[in-house]
Amino acid sequence: MGESARSVSGKHRSPASLLLLPIVRALISCGMPSDEKQAAKRAAQLRDEIRKHDRLYYEKSAPIISDREYDRLYKELVDLEAQFPDLGAPDSPTQRVGGKPLKAFAQIEHRVPMLSLDNTYSEDEVARFYARITRLLPDEKIPVVIEPKVDGVAVSLLYENGWLRHAATRGDGSLGDDITQNAKTIRSIPERLRSAAPGIFEVRGEVYMDKRGFEKLNEERREAGLPLFANPRNAAAGSLKHLDPGIVAKRPLGIVFYGTGAVEDVDLEKHSALFPLLKKLGLPHSERWWLADSVEGILNAIHELDGLRHDFPYQTDGAVVKVDAFEQRERLGFTAKSPRWAIAYKYEAERVETRLRDILVQVGRTGILTPVAVLDPVVVSGSTVGRATLHNEDEIKRKDIRIGDTVVIEKAGEVIPAVVEVVKSKRPRHAVPFDFFKHIHGKCPVCGGPIRRDPQFVAWRCENVQCPAQTTRRVEFLAARGALDIESVGGIVADKLVERGLAREPLDLFELKTEQLAKLNLGTAEAPRMLGEKNAAKAVHAIERARTLPLARWLFALAIPEIGKTTATQLARFHDSIESVADSQLLRDVLDYHEKREHKSGSCRTKEIADRLIKAGFAKRSKSKDKNGIVTEVGPVVAQSILNFFASASGRKILQRLKQLEIQPKSEKVSGKKVAALALAGKTFVLTGTLPSMTREEATGKIEALGGHVSGSVSKKTDYVLAGAEPGSKIGKAKQLGIRILDEMEFRQMLAR
Ligand code: IVH
Repeated sequence: MGESARSVSGKHRSPASLLLLPIVRALISCGMPSDEKQAAKRAAQLRDEIRKHDRLYYEKSAPIISDREYDRLYKELVDLEAQFPDLGAPDSPTQRVGGKPLKAFAQIEHRVPMLSLDNTYSEDEVARFYARITRLLPDEKIPVVIEPKVDGVAVSLLYENGWLRHAATRGDGSLGDDITQNAKTIRSIPERLRSAAPGIFEVRGEVYMDKRGFEKLNEERREAGLPLFANPRNAAAGSLKHLDPGIVAKRPLGIVFYGTGAVEDVDLEKHSALFPLLKKLGLPHSERWWLADSVEGILNAIHELDGLRHDFPYQTDGAVVKVDAFEQRERLGFTAKSPRWAIAYKYEAERVETRLRDILVQVGRTGILTPVAVLDPVVVSGSTVGRATLHNEDEIKRKDIRIGDTVVIEKAGEVIPAVVEVVKSKRPRHAVPFDFFKHIHGKCPVCGGPIRRDPQFVAWRCENVQCPAQTTRRVEFLAARGALDIESVGGIVADKLVERGLAREPLDLFELKTEQLAKLNLGTAEAPRMLGEKNAAKAVHAIERARTLPLARWLFALAIPEIGKTTATQLARFHDSIESVADSQLLRDVLDYHEKREHKSGSCRTKEIADRLIKAGFAKRSKSKDKNGIVTEVGPVVAQSILNFFASASGRKILQRLKQLEIQPKSEKVSGKKVAALALAGKTFVLTGTLPSMTREEATGKIEALGGHVSGSVSKKTDYVLAGAEPGSKIGKAKQLGIRILDEMEFRQMLAR
């Protein structure tokens, strides 16, 4: 959902009114007729419920109900308060805008409040909206603009004389979080506006996470054993409120601008004239928008957009209909909560009913137990769904999901299928409440080991690090593409190696003999299917080859928390062995530096560390005014996690085992200064399509080895697009921007040069 559903008005509540509230409520409920009492009870329930979901959505970026469900609760409360005006409470969630600003960020006051919109799922209501404004402005033509409602996080950016002064989230509508440093890491947000810029230009838009990038990020999080983001919007929100801009910079975020706040020296008469202005200033906006001046025209545009929006790189959840002329907007004005001149129409997510046959509990690489719904297969948004995540025990309890229930499935955020609700009227009589602990008999469903509630992840976790399920996932990860690339060891082989006791930990792969592997039964005792000599020899060959893979690959393959591919490559540039990462002075300096800055202690010492990190090429001076400000290659959270890992028992054991196996991955250690001297230093590549004889990983490895960088999307900062067969839309964008497109042959020639 955009933030409209967790919405509205900027009314302020005085502390006194909050204190009096329970008394007022009690007084009201005493003398009330019984239906009003019922209504008061329900309204109180709804407010508590909505506040809880607001907290989960805004402060934790981890909602547990779908937008539709939230909207339903919200609408029920709005209707109740309208029907029983005495129930209206100044602190009701219906009386305020969005979320609380986070404590950790400085606060910024918006020059013009950031309001939200009324939203609807009904075309009739859109028609009523247009009829209403026609009534209010009789005998006038009222052109409206229809544009995509981008499903991300609302932000407001202030440009002064063309320079980005600050960026803020909406917060409570008047005060938002200062996210300037994070916003500066988003490539499509220019630090300086193009062409003659207005003196003051407060511009508003929606930060989104690229749909493909979101899937990749979740894939990496799954591999790293981290909880998944429910949808791109939550991932964008979670990224923007990250305190470490180094991490934000790695997230595939973008922005679409759709409006202005306070502006000076700008002469705009209508919204449709904003698009060319944004373009001129270098601020991205929706490529598609429509003008209409009738209900029919508006609905046609809404339908047309629905047919197109799935191909946009960002997620959309509706269409915003806004009066074009600012002068007409002024005359229409605002209701208590939102502008009368605009409405958001939200598209229904496709939902279908199916039966929940069973609940499986899966064990992840880090031992987290995830309940998964096994469903009667059903088609949702074009693909067959047989399983859906149930997230965790609390989610099952809250929705009262029982085995045998008929459930409603929705593709939340068009990506992950989710069980939205139970159709209680279809519940079988014998269905009993689901008891997670009892269902798995109080132990790990795979190894029978002890389990423990991990409050950080609201989840149960298997405590046995030798649990075969965990080991299997780790073996699979070590051998995966992009890690050690041991092609013949996939999920099934990993499963069987662990099951037969041939691998108790991932590094056991390096002691396997061809004969053992050849006899590995991938089938069952009744229907055996051996791996065979040929495949076994191939596997052993790939394992041997893996010994000599460079440090970056090994750092990634060992599944060290927080080390994804990019971090592994960065670390390998500055360290020459795993031991030197484990005992890295650079990482300790990063921690030291950030700690000192946080506590504002010892500025001499801070400067000394900053200088040392810069000299090593591990940090750059930041553009902030602070003279000791630096941006480090990896942030403090990542640095801490890596040092912690190598200090832990599992980390120490890995180091020992590598030594015993005589595996010493090396990097051609390249210092920051040397990086600058490499052939592709500072060059940004984008890959698209399938190359004839090179995998994406290989091409990326070659680019990075020469100091270049690979990005997921084409922008004006892209230097080359490396294109293979069946390239995606990136080619069109590259052509549009005049970026050089290379085929594999040209790329190889470039490498040779
Ligand atoms: S116009 C007075 N245009 O959806 C508010 N908002 O439900 C004017 N959003 O708060 C907002 N795409 O966070 C507008 N094209 C668009 C939008 C858009 C997404 C978000 C925004 C807004 C919420 C309204």
